[in-house]
Amino acid sequence: MADPRYQPITRKSFLGKVVRSIGGLVGLGIGTGAYAFGWERTWLEVVRLSVALPALPESFKGIKLVHFSDVHLGLFSKPEDLQQVTERIAAEKPDLICFTGDIVEEGTRILSSVVPILHDLQAPYGKYAVLGNHDYRAREQQVVRNAWAASGFEVLDNRNIRLSKKDDELFIAGVDDALHGVPNLPQALTGIPEGSAVILLAHEPDFADEAAQFPIHLQLSGHSHGGQVRLPFIGHLLTPKLARKYVQGMYQVGNQSMYVYTNRGLGTTILPVRLFCRPELTILTLT
Ligand SMILES: [Fe+2]
Repeated sequence: MADPRYQPITRKSFLGKVVRSIGGLVGLGIGTGAYAFGWERTWLEVVRLSVALPALPESFKGIKLVHFSDVHLGLFSKPEDLQQVTERIAAEKPDLICFTGDIVEEGTRILSSVVPILHDLQAPYGKYAVLGNHDYRAREQQVVRNAWAASGFEVLDNRNIRLSKKDDELFIAGVDDALHGVPNLPQALTGIPEGSAVILLAHEPDFADEAAQFPIHLQLSGHSHGGQVRLPFIGHLLTPKLARKYVQGMYQVGNQSMYVYTNRGLGTTILPVRLFCRPELTILTLT
């Protein structure tokens, strides 16, 4: 009997192999798509990290800041999805809560149903938000601002808030969206005494190159979504304008005295998928 290893390749066997290979690739593609849409897109990762800020006064050391971003409420991000996240935030018992833009994907009608959810969040040092580029999409940015205000969040539109504890102080500043709004850092930092600890909220992470020219110690951002789809050994494929340099995680910027942290966001845009790029909730302990 002939050794099967040396049997000639027939047209039938060759076509069979091609069909099985294509079937395998199509199956893999469908499986990957189903995973990216049906599973990873809503598989929240809670990222915990400590950030050492040399200017941080003694009485603020150990303060717990929860950072969330880019909810993109709309067709694929529902109020109930946000509710699940706010329950996780509440369980952390944060000292302060910061949101870095894009609460909506485009339309703002959905906001009325999330105001009570956001309003329920509690933090002794307050809740702060800035707007992102999608918050401007429907030209209803004032509706977005009003929804944050109704939720008990301070919208930091080129302004800052002073937090005090004993005789110490910490400043939370925020700028307007850099793509569709008018960010103004000098205005945002008005009245902050020299040498104070300053945290900046800015939707677009690459704004950090400008912020690093100012006495800011940490910038919190979103916008990149981490690329949404990342491939092993390659990383992100695409990120939007002003999210090309500081795509995800912590970076030191400029003269190394400022950090920028880019949160991957909770929702999605363009395609409702996430691959190797889970939605993120960040818990920062300041030291
Ligand atoms: Fe976004």
